[in-house]
Amino acid sequence: MIQLTDDEFSWLVTYIRNNYGINLSKKRLLIEARMYSVLVKHDFTSFSQYFSYLKQNENELNTLLNKLTTNHTYFMREPRHFDFLREVILPQQLKENREHSLRIWSAGCSTGEEAYTAVMTMKDFFRQSPGWDTRILATDISTKVLAEAQQRVYSAEDLQNLPESWKRLYFTQSDDVFLLKDEIRREVIFRRLNLMEDFHFQRPFDLIFCRNVMIYFTKEAKDSLIRKFCNMLKPGGYLFIGHSENIQNEVPDLHYVEPSIYQKGRLDAKR
Ligand SMILES: C[S@@+](CC[C@H](N)C(=O)[O-])C[C@H]1O[C@@H](n2cnc3c(N)ncnc32)[C@H](O)[C@@H]1O
Repeated sequence: MIQLTDDEFSWLVTYIRNNYGINLSKKRLLIEARMYSVLVKHDFTSFSQYFSYLKQNENELNTLLNKLTTNHTYFMREPRHFDFLREVILPQQLKENREHSLRIWSAGCSTGEEAYTAVMTMKDFFRQSPGWDTRILATDISTKVLAEAQQRVYSAEDLQNLPESWKRLYFTQSDDVFLLKDEIRREVIFRRLNLMEDFHFQRPFDLIFCRNVMIYFTKEAKDSLIRKFCNMLKPGGYLFIGHSENIQNEVPDLHYVEPSIYQKGRLDAKR
């Protein structure tokens, strides 16, 4: 193991916090463990050597971020959100949305299981009402997870939380692996996006997922991100966060609906 000196650790924590909002101040051992193979690959014997290299090679930043982000995710994680989508949001849209087009964003999507679960939920719901545009934008800072999201093969265990009918309808099986069918895959548009940067989209969203991302953020980064999300929601649009996260009074226009679900402006969720 190559150890971080106090100065090196402090430089890295500050750099990552300022640029990506992620708080690594309690992750010294994790950094040393995850970065070891990278340092060895380049024959570096200290983190300072690696940081000098990093400053001259912009692409290396991807490797650093791929190593230091936590990407755990799975299909139908925190299923209450998908029930809420099916029971509250989609019926509302069916009644009121004349454009037959929903705008959904999975922010901090990792390998895409969250976005794919939302697409399958919508396909299922709209089966009797064809013609809806249900494409989803899915973004992450890590290029590695975005590449994986688009090529992944799944084991039976990966699919264990999905209804049997979905496995038959939306996956093809080859020996003991499963592939997501194109009709689901092509509904998700993956893009790299750093949530700490200013972002602007031409049209606001009906629903933003940002689950299990802000837990790694500093309070300032989280507050500023929630304000930006609120600006990017349509009136009546929803924000889903992780069940272990909460939003206090950071944004007056964002109202608590139930744990981990918030609505911009009007509070008309029928529960
Ligand atoms: C634990 S995963 C969450 C995946 C999914 N949302 C879920 O709940 O299962 C957190 C993701 O947030 C991404 N992330 C962390 N900081 C980010 C930033 N500043 N901008 C964009 N994505 C970020 C990480 O790369 C990682 O893939």
